[in-house]
Amino acid sequence: VDDPPLYYWDYLRLDQLLGCQDLESARRGELARDEMMFIVTHQAFELWFKQILWELDAVNERMGQDIVPEREMGQVVAGLRRIVTIQRLLGDQLEVLETMTPLDFLDFRDLLIPASGFQSVQFRLIENRLGLRRRLKIKGSPYTSVLRPEHVEMLDRSEHEPSLLDHVERWLERIPFLRFGSFDFWQAYRDAAEQMLARERRTIQMHPNLDERARAEQLAQFEETAETFEALFDAEQYERLRARGKRRLSYQAFLAALLITLYRDEPILQLPFRLLTGLVDVDEGFTTWRHRHALLAHRMIGDKIGTGGTSGHSYLEAATQKHRVFADLFDLPTFLLPRKALPKLPPQVAEQMSFRYTP
Ligand code: HEM
Repeated sequence: VDDPPLYYWDYLRLDQLLGCQDLESARRGELARDEMMFIVTHQAFELWFKQILWELDAVNERMGQDIVPEREMGQVVAGLRRIVTIQRLLGDQLEVLETMTPLDFLDFRDLLIPASGFQSVQFRLIENRLGLRRRLKIKGSPYTSVLRPEHVEMLDRSEHEPSLLDHVERWLERIPFLRFGSFDFWQAYRDAAEQMLARERRTIQMHPNLDERARAEQLAQFEETAETFEALFDAEQYERLRARGKRRLSYQAFLAALLITLYRDEPILQLPFRLLTGLVDVDEGFTTWRHRHALLAHRMIGDKIGTGGTSGHSYLEAATQKHRVFADLFDLPTFLLPRKALPKLPPQVAEQMSFRYTP
């Protein structure tokens, strides 16, 4: 009660926050003016990474419950929404760096070696909390090889904790609508899907704008898609795709995600569908950021290696392609059927999936 009135400067600890921009170039007596902007931008990134981790922890805590109460789903979706909003901001923040010309960057770049964004522990924690596990190696070594022991330990621990991908997988596996009593949904879906595939194969075979070579290529590609359809109805074939790294979610979880996507018009599947969409948005947000950052690196340093020792922009582009967590969800539209071709749900199932207020 006797506390002095709170003061803005103290509350935000601005002594610390504004007192920690130490320019390496100034320390060496060769001030490079742009280094201030370089440090401030990176620090701003790390603050936003902190906020993303804060939101992710809350999402993981809710999704990690044995049963996720329906009333908490809205909070999970809202948390993902906030992460996506921050990601957009992070993309724009890169533009501030782009106001620095490559020549100005050269004034202090070499002073940074061997430090690099590659050592951003918070960025790695975000990746691990989301569920990224298989990474590109640099010169045969894991990403942790360039970090201090206390950071390696922190990251090792986070790799062994259940990730958002793990929680979502378990939640999907519990979705009760995968079996519909006596109604064989998956057989009905398979019949409808086979008709659709036959139509698409015919379209390629008959298409007037394709020459023989293009037609053969299109058909080969089509047969690959048809194979992934087969894997939907055959758990063993699905597992083979998984072993090849083409899928990450378990068979049960993938089917549940497909069902939610197909029947998202049913009221009870609305929030689950928005959750899946939120995960797609987050994955897209990071992928977009990685791509923009790779372009930034290219325009800043050309084909040079990074200060951290990777091949530079080509490493970053490869990571953009490979370091995806929820790619399975991006593949789902392959298996969508037009609404009019979807098997109709039995009335008692449709009833269970709707909301009804009984006074
Ligand atoms: C002039 C600006 C920048 C350049 C030229 C640049 C360049 C690079 C390069 C070449 C790498 C690959 C690792 C290496 O060999 O060093 C890298 C990695 C990375 N940078 Fe930057 N960067 C810049 C700004 C930023 C900013 C503002 C951030 C925000 C924190 C950032 C975060 C990262 C992260 C997280 C990685 C690791 C990416 C991964 O391994 O997937 N960078 N950067």
